Amino acid sequence: MQSPIKVFSEWVESGKDEGMEKNHSSSVENMIKFSIKDLDSFSFIDAGCGNGWVVRNISNYSNCTRAIGVDGSLNMIEKAKKLDSKNQYYCKDLLKWSPDDKVDVVHSMEVFYYFENPDHLFKHIYSNWIKEGGRLIMGIDHYEENKPSHTWKQDCCVTIMKLFSENKWKSMFEEAGFKKIESWCHGKDGDWNGTLIVTGIR
Ligand SMILES: C[S@@+](CC[C@H](N)C(=O)[O-])C[C@H]1O[C@@H](n2cnc3c(N)ncnc32)[C@H](O)[C@@H]1O
Repeated sequence: MQSPIKVFSEWVESGKDEGMEKNHSSSVENMIKFSIKDLDSFSFIDAGCGNGWVVRNISNYSNCTRAIGVDGSLNMIEKAKKLDSKNQYYCKDLLKWSPDDKVDVVHSMEVFYYFENPDHLFKHIYSNWIKEGGRLIMGIDHYEENKPSHTWKQDCCVTIMKLFSENKWKSMFEEAGFKKIESWCHGKDGDWNGTLIVTGIR
């Protein structure tokens, strides 16, 4: 069993990180379309940005004023910086980092369940990362209603992989203070329940 950060650092060494863009892009597209639909301009943080592919893409939108990526894996952040000198990347534990200026949109794909206490992360992001009226949007594939994901903790030998229901994730948004909470699943296919997307406004 290895820590999530260690596992993902090894993914960079083997080139497996690049598969995440392919596997997550449909859900991420759905999330981004929703989160920026009413915004004339926006600043953006990708929490657990991996190799930075979402930051690189979003920064090409003409109404994106600032795009930042944060990830705990040095290999991921070094790769992100090598591919992109325009945007900002930080190698930090999400619980221990805050931006200099709060942003309009915090986006995160396949990250929150790697925390022992995700509720602490929701509260930290709510208080320190997001402007009033700004949005957090989270996508995860490992959750109770998505049965094929239940074996992942064993399969990937990762020390932390929390398995919660859709209602539990929504209640963590609510307890952190988020309002107008909405959730849906994107990409259902047979047993695969799709990406659980949860969002709320500060
Ligand atoms: C499944 S990957 C997703 C990466 C990216 N969001 C994507 O869709 O390609 C999970 C990422 O979360 C990062 N991560 C896990 N725990 C973290 C922590 N405590 N602080 C910062 N990043 C963390 C890992 O390093 C990894 O890059």
